[in-house]
Amino acid sequence: MKSLLLVLVMSIAFASSAMAFDAKKFFKANCTACHLIGGGDKTGPDLAGVGKRRKVEWIVKFMSYPDGMINGDSDEEDYPVKKGKLNGKDISYGDKVAYSLFQMYKPQVMTEQEIDAEQVKALIKYIDSVSTTPKGKITKFKVLPIK
Ligand code: HEC
Repeated sequence: MKSLLLVLVMSIAFASSAMAFDAKKFFKANCTACHLIGGGDKTGPDLAGVGKRRKVEWIVKFMSYPDGMINGDSDEEDYPVKKGKLNGKDISYGDKVAYSLFQMYKPQVMTEQEIDAEQVKALIKYIDSVSTTPKGKITKFKVLPIK
């Protein structure tokens, strides 16, 4: 009986911690310093429509370790360093999209965020509720021709 009660208490605690994620609050506290939604460029790109241009898994991986996605990190299994050529020059990178984004918004590298897929889905829902039409440089974004 005691253990049943413990399980009950723990699952209530778990459920409320999952529900406690408030995407709007989280966005205002951690993202507005660098991102607008539908208002164009700030330090980073306008995030309107980001749920359409990127997959949830990509966003989770990018937000968790932006530098790893841009440049790769030989110490991190999930962020391998890749070698390529860009306009005839040798480069190393992690992910083509992240590398290309960085070329557009450098020298700022985004700050790392602890985030999971459910939270990213909630953030996308919040972002979509504000605007799905981005402005600024991101509307001209193209992945660079890395060979
Ligand atoms: C210190 C500034 C800064 C903060 C704070 C920041 N970002 Fe960024 N973000 C950037 C920059 C700059 C880029 C462009 C890539 C790069 O140079 O790292 C970017 C790129 C992104 C991208 C990829 C956009 C695309 O079009 O593919 C997403 C998604 C993103 N940020 C989400 C967030 C969210 C959500 C938060 C808040 C939790 C956040 N960022 C906080 C600066 C920031």
